[in-house]
Amino acid sequence: MGTVLHLDRPAIADGLAQAYLLARDFLDGAPSAMVLGDNIFFGHGLPETLAAADAQQSGGTVFGYRVADPERYGVVDFSAEGTVRAIIEKPEKPPSNYAVTGLYYLDGRAPELAESIRPSPRGELEIVDLLEKYRAEGSLRVERMGRGYAWLDTGTHGSLLDAGNFVRTLTDRQGLQVGSPDEIAWRAGFISRDDLLERAETFRKNDYGRYLLGIASE
Ligand code: G1P
Repeated sequence: MGTVLHLDRPAIADGLAQAYLLARDFLDGAPSAMVLGDNIFFGHGLPETLAAADAQQSGGTVFGYRVADPERYGVVDFSAEGTVRAIIEKPEKPPSNYAVTGLYYLDGRAPELAESIRPSPRGELEIVDLLEKYRAEGSLRVERMGRGYAWLDTGTHGSLLDAGNFVRTLTDRQGLQVGSPDEIAWRAGFISRDDLLERAETFRKNDYGRYLLGIASE
């Protein structure tokens, strides 16, 4: 498990690829996973999918997800054989319905490759331009996330509300939290049961604390 560098989106105002320039010293040549804070992923098998991307030694892995409105995203242009010809940022005429999600696994060369990117017409160091460098050398993997996954973005009031309703529906139905960092850390063996109980104590006056107490005594 690596450590986390948190960059606020206003800090990367010059485009997502700028994150790799800002993180260069922190990464110090190591591979990285970058996730956009307004992206939510949910689906059975997600941990295995992410572990497989993390296990890659070189190149990059991104995820293509079918959406109804691809023009809002970076879009994958597939050839008839299914190879990736290009990833195009917010195309007026999308070549497919597959958007590239905001989760990027890139090898240790990402900061160095990001150095040579120049601002796009909208004035940003585009993540798709960085991905293009990997694609051009044949080291970009675009994994399709199938229809059993939910990929939600929460960048507008409406989409945040939709995501909230989605999470509430699941949580109420299953009695399980979605994406509890404490639960995930405990189930993955990163923290002990005592650590989990300590966290439950911190939140003892609310539903979240009661939830942690409940799963600790399962
Ligand atoms: C950014 C990326 C885009 C990607 C999207 C995912 O778009 O530029 O390629 O598909 O995140 O959320 P933005 O949210 O900056 O419009």
